[in-house]
Amino acid sequence: MLSRYFKPSLLKRIAAGAGTPVYVYSRAVFLRQIAAYKKAFRSLDPLFCYAMKSNSSRALCALAAREGWGADVVSGGELYRALKAGFAPPKIIFSGVGKTPEELEFALKTGILFVNAESFEEVLELERAAAKLKTRAPLSLRLNPDVEPHTHKYITTGRLGSKFGVTFEEARKIYLYAAESDYLEPVGAQFHIGSQVHSPAPYALAARRLAAFILQLASSGVRLKYADVGGGWGVKEGSEMSDPAPLARAVAGVFSGTGLRVILEPGRSVSAPSGVLLTRVVYRKRGGHKNFLIVDAAMNDLIRPALYGARHPVALVGPGRGPEKLYDIVGAVCETGDFLAEGARLREPAAGRLLAVYSAGAYGFSMSSQYNSRPRAAEVLITGPSSWRLIRRRETYKDLVAAEMK
Ligand SMILES: Cc1ncc(COP(=O)(O)O)c(C=O)c1O
Repeated sequence: MLSRYFKPSLLKRIAAGAGTPVYVYSRAVFLRQIAAYKKAFRSLDPLFCYAMKSNSSRALCALAAREGWGADVVSGGELYRALKAGFAPPKIIFSGVGKTPEELEFALKTGILFVNAESFEEVLELERAAAKLKTRAPLSLRLNPDVEPHTHKYITTGRLGSKFGVTFEEARKIYLYAAESDYLEPVGAQFHIGSQVHSPAPYALAARRLAAFILQLASSGVRLKYADVGGGWGVKEGSEMSDPAPLARAVAGVFSGTGLRVILEPGRSVSAPSGVLLTRVVYRKRGGHKNFLIVDAAMNDLIRPALYGARHPVALVGPGRGPEKLYDIVGAVCETGDFLAEGARLREPAAGRLLAVYSAGAYGFSMSSQYNSRPRAAEVLITGPSSWRLIRRRETYKDLVAAEMK
């Protein structure tokens, strides 16, 4: 596994200095993933909009912004964070199925590149917001290309019957309406077929459908500038690298020579391999035929195993002793669904031993909560072969009640 970037000696020092549970990110891996995207897509020169939902840590977002990337945001809060992290407003796009009137106004006042709208009603709301601000809203529509991405059903988003996007037929009507409006400017079209997608074939199919649609729309007089193919490219859990080259091959052929600026919204494939979650064993116990390791991280820190049955490889930090056994690695939360791994093969770790949960850089901290009144974990960035810094302090009990009133 990622020993080159997450050396046991360094992880031990981080755990001693920052405590556990702690999310640890590697600047080198994050930048390497960005470089891999730039290289794979160099013939298209697309705009990359980092999907902040995968990991909205300011320190990581600032790295992406410094690399010239924009941001894909899905709430007013993410837009606020994007600005704080230094993303340039003309490189920010706003996705999501339920943007409120306040969020749309915020986006327009900020001067973002475009809003990816997902329904006629949302477009009407955007038009109202633009009229109020006496401006023209740059509009893109999220289309539902009805392709099967072969991923978990909770993260399948591009099939008819999902709440996301609009059909091509409806999109055509909306674009023709928008083209007549004084307050709307149709500029783009988008799809996002799902997350943790490992095959380029559904992208190629969706891209062909999108390109054909944009061409047809142009013949009706509505000329778009941007073709946005979303994010979702997968990472093999525990793998050190996600190679975007097959994705680039699937998309580049479709759009090169069309004059359209391609946009990508990668999240997980950049952030997942960049992070591990460090946790310590609190107790060992046997329950029926199972060996349990009860650790100080729980589903409030990393909910993916409970939510999607995600499998995160877990390893002892440093060498182990004795024969390997199978362990269920569970947290202290009062839910049977609270597990980080089931059947992990480890040499017997005594209480106090440090474990690393791999591929935890995406949808880990960003999905974490204070459930069971557990303060959220700290976050650390590895900045060099033996250097690191705290990028988010551990929450305290005071933080748990800070927003409450009597
Ligand atoms: C609209 C949109 N774009 C991009 C992404 C990023 O997906 P991933 O993190 O799998 O790359 C998502 C994730 O669900 C999304 O909904």
